[in-house]
Amino acid sequence: MDVERSKPATVGDTFGRPLKSLRLSVTDRCNLRCKYCMPEEEYGWLPRETLLSFEEIYALTDLFTALGVDKVRLTGGEPLLRRNLPTLIRMLRDNRRITEIALTTNGILLAEQAEALYDAGLHRITVSLDTLKSDRFRSLTRRDTHAQVLEGIEASLRVGFTCLKLDTVAMKGFNDDELVDLIEYGKRVGAEVRFIEYMDVGGATDWSLAKVLSRDAILELLGRRYGPVEPIAEASSAPAQRYRFPDGTIFGIIASTTRPFCATCDRSRLTADGLWYLCLYAKEGLDLREPLRMGVSRDELTALVRSRWEARKDRGAEERKDLEQVGLRESRLIEIQKLREDPHLEMHARGG
Ligand code: GTP
Ligand code: 5AD
Ligand code: SF4
Repeated sequence: MDVERSKPATVGDTFGRPLKSLRLSVTDRCNLRCKYCMPEEEYGWLPRETLLSFEEIYALTDLFTALGVDKVRLTGGEPLLRRNLPTLIRMLRDNRRITEIALTTNGILLAEQAEALYDAGLHRITVSLDTLKSDRFRSLTRRDTHAQVLEGIEASLRVGFTCLKLDTVAMKGFNDDELVDLIEYGKRVGAEVRFIEYMDVGGATDWSLAKVLSRDAILELLGRRYGPVEPIAEASSAPAQRYRFPDGTIFGIIASTTRPFCATCDRSRLTADGLWYLCLYAKEGLDLREPLRMGVSRDELTALVRSRWEARKDRGAEERKDLEQVGLRESRLIEIQKLREDPHLEMHARGG
């Protein structure tokens, strides 16, 4: 089949949402222990033999792109811990239906890998940056590597990446006094800052509604310093709403907690061991590794994926929000004991 000329099928779920964006978790390992994501020190990682090889990732991605996926994001854990990631990027670049390959990273290994990632053809990078203060970084992540993150950001710009995004999880009592400094830092280095509302995902065992700095509160806080904030109108399924300050600076807010965007959600996630999740909050994923390794044909696998997407009803973030009305959303989503029993319930295993 001539992939370049044949059009991908368009597949819609029960709400008519297309299958568009695929988040590929390439490892569940991480070199930080951010309290909002990985509350424990020790983890039992996914066994090596269960991890998809690059060839398997390529083959599965290929059938997703035949069904409409055109945007791929490499995530983790920390994706730069996966050895030879540039090789995977080069392979994915051969799939002509993919218009964008992006990477979400904590930035620690970026300085040493930025050039190879750029040369391999990676389009965009998003770096997590929750604070500019190294002591706060240490208390949040339980590691002392803040300087490496800043070096990673600078290195990625130096080797030629543009459109760099910096993601900040905004938390009351933690970094709510740093929003302006982060915006100023973004301006200085030439990156777009995005504030993410603290979410009660699996792993966020310390979450409570009281710690969420809401979109409205963020806008208020920034408006006080910069003047009227203007929302930018754009037709997009991206979770971030973008805004402009009077001086032209653009930033984004991802209001997953107070304003869920499930209605336009076109994303799904493939874990490093081949489970396909239709929603960040989904309890179970569909195992694609086993049938792939058993030799199930590409057509059959494609039909399986198609039928699952067509039956998709997920609207996890909206359902969590609905619980507020009945007073059932005061604290964490999943108890730590349950997380220990099923590591796939954690955000770091299914790509943040
Ligand atoms: P771009 O717009 O292409 O930069 O992608 P993105 O906005 O999806 O960025 P990224 O993948 O870095 O996601 C940013 C943050 O949004 C994540 O770290 C999560 O906190 C949140 N997020 C990402 N995906 C989902 C999702 O599917 N559902 C919800 N509710 N939140 C999500
Ligand atoms: N709330 C919001 N964002 C989170 N992330 C991880 N855990 C949470 C959470 N509880 C996001 C962070 C990080 C990305 C990988 O996942 O933004 O940058
Ligand atoms: Fe999509 Fe689920 Fe996130 Fe809603 S909660 S935006 S349906 S992944």
